[in-house]
Amino acid sequence: MKKIQISPSILSADFSQLGNEIKRLEKAGADMIHVDVMDGHFVPNLTIGPQVIKALKKHTSIPFDVHLMISPVHKYIEAYSDAGADIITIHPEATEDLQSSILRIKDLNKKVGVSLNPETKTDVILNFLNQIDLVLIMSVNPGFGGQKFMPEVLIKIKELKKIQKKENLSFDIEIDGGINFDNSKTAIEAGANILVSGTTIFKENNGNIKKNIETLKEV
Ligand code: DX5
Ligand code: ZN
Repeated sequence: MKKIQISPSILSADFSQLGNEIKRLEKAGADMIHVDVMDGHFVPNLTIGPQVIKALKKHTSIPFDVHLMISPVHKYIEAYSDAGADIITIHPEATEDLQSSILRIKDLNKKVGVSLNPETKTDVILNFLNQIDLVLIMSVNPGFGGQKFMPEVLIKIKELKKIQKKENLSFDIEIDGGINFDNSKTAIEAGANILVSGTTIFKENNGNIKKNIETLKEV
């Protein structure tokens, strides 16, 4: 059983204090930092670009789990790699050629993640599972924090878990969107080993992020 890891989404952090928020997350036991990059085109929201990621990188030693909700994504992969992304996750819907975008990320020696929106079926990525490090299952439609968890996506995690066992593959399964204390265990039992959370980590228990990270990890 893989160790359960927590990747707090800084989309819910205080954007006027991002450097301090990153330090707080590392001190509170975050395993990595989930950075939601949005372009206002692939998703109806706009967040941060490579320069901000570069500036934040010096405030922590834990990995940057960069979720690129941008399209077309291929031509921007290098910029996020240079900015300090450790995991680069892309959406198949955002590239003309998923295989070449995966190879591009691997050529840059970064971990490759592929993200499936709630309505996207797993068969889009089955041929790539043996060459990627992570599958990111969206449990909300991407674009905003604080949305309601969509339990129907759990079936995809169970499916991926079965394939992983059958083909002896080792990709991580990360779930992202609406994760809270009521559904985190169900997500883990389904097979997720990395939980993304923004609202729950930053808002619950009067913003006690250490307690919130530990509570999400409990199985
Ligand atoms: C949504 C982002 C998620 C989101 C998670 O498009 O990809 O990472 O920030 O935030 P919560 O945990 O608040 O749903
Ligand atoms: Zn995300």
